[in-house]
Amino acid sequence: MGRRQDLERRQTLLARFGRRISGETRLDNLLTILAEEVRNILGADRCSVFLVDPVKNELWTKVAVGVGEKVLRVPLGRGIAGFVAKTGSAVNIRDAYRDLRFSHEIDSFTGYRTKSVLAVPLKDRNGKAIGVFEVLNKSKSYFNEEDEGFLRLLAAIAASSVENAQLYENLRRSHLETIYRLAMVAEYRDQTDTAKHLRHISKYSAIVAAQLGLPYQRVEDIRYASPLHDIGKVAIPDAILLKPGKLTPEEYEEMKKHPIYGARMLENAETPLLQLACRISMAHHEHYDGTGYPHGLKAEQIPLEARIVSVVDVFDALTTKRVYKGAWTLEETFRYMSNQAGRLFDPMVADAFNKCFPEIQEILRDEIGAESVEGRAASTEGVSDILPSSPGSP
Ligand code: C2E
Ligand code: SIN
Ligand code: SIN
Ligand code: FE
Repeated sequence: MGRRQDLERRQTLLARFGRRISGETRLDNLLTILAEEVRNILGADRCSVFLVDPVKNELWTKVAVGVGEKVLRVPLGRGIAGFVAKTGSAVNIRDAYRDLRFSHEIDSFTGYRTKSVLAVPLKDRNGKAIGVFEVLNKSKSYFNEEDEGFLRLLAAIAASSVENAQLYENLRRSHLETIYRLAMVAEYRDQTDTAKHLRHISKYSAIVAAQLGLPYQRVEDIRYASPLHDIGKVAIPDAILLKPGKLTPEEYEEMKKHPIYGARMLENAETPLLQLACRISMAHHEHYDGTGYPHGLKAEQIPLEARIVSVVDVFDALTTKRVYKGAWTLEETFRYMSNQAGRLFDPMVADAFNKCFPEIQEILRDEIGAESVEGRAASTEGVSDILPSSPGSP
């Protein structure tokens, strides 16, 4: 290809690069796009995007292993990427194995053979290195000065998108963590293992929602809103909530107000997630046949998300010990629940739940395995297990 055509090709790619990364607020997606585009534009065999983890003083990157991905971490200062992050200067070498700064760790991990390497720092507004772009093995030649200039340009364009995405990721995580911790408050008094109960409600609801074919975002919303379904229980007196025996009719009447208390706490919420939590709180004890509370809603009058949480909630309540009852066996639970399809439960949701049962059992089995190894989980554990994974955080 002639020089001129090459330049034109790169300009076209550059325009596409800007288009694809602008507005991408998911760090995960952004890193994938960056790696793809940079590799393509530079004519390299590989591209790795490293980000600085300032807490651990490490660089991390995602590498493809087989069909999946793994997060790889290297101490700041180690290897070529580490050198670039630490010094803020670019590195361009023809044969990595003859460079003292090169660390073989990643190659031995991936089974890849690095030859030429071009690496430039990704700098924030203040000129501090927040990461490193590294391209490997230029096809049929070495990276030249023009490549270096180009990679610097790409890094400059990408830096603010990366910063933005990190900011969004933090916001998203702290929002979800706050919601989760709020749910903890509500369940703290009457659950012996609060984290476990919330984890169950969250995971099972999301699994069933996905089985019902709901779109990704709705599944994620129910995953994070469902743990708040009983937030209204904070307003129920100890004498009722913690009563070891059966409630009197009057006590049960008071107990039955918890969906309304919860909905009041969440009403007029600004975010769609909390609005959903409000609807779930209000309707998670409605029954499909109209015999539930607080409003006696029927069938499709009950929001679908609440119909899902209702099934999942009863399953978890029956199979675990409560202050007022022992744990039922899976067989007893099943017999009861299949009997309730069309009564308590939406038959469609009950059916989806049945289909998901192998997956749910898997979660229960893993838990039992983990417990016998580590002993009983502390009640605040499991937060990171529910929050979206963020490879940049511990
Ligand atoms: P929870 O313990 O989380 O139970 C949620 C739902 O699971 C119940 O909603 C009910 O549909 C089902 N469930 C739980 N245990 C049993 C059971 O032993 N038999 C049957 N057939 N279903 C069961 P429900 O009944 O509207 O209760 C809402 C909440 O009221 C319960 O949440 C619990 O906190 C409280 N509660 C209900 N009954 C009693 C009781 O006899 N004593 C005490 N201390 N609390 C109760
Ligand atoms: C809980 O286990 O506390 C939630 C169940 C409910 O309100 O029915
Ligand atoms: C009971 O069987 O009375 C306790 C559980 C419930 O309220 O559904
Ligand atoms: Fe409830």
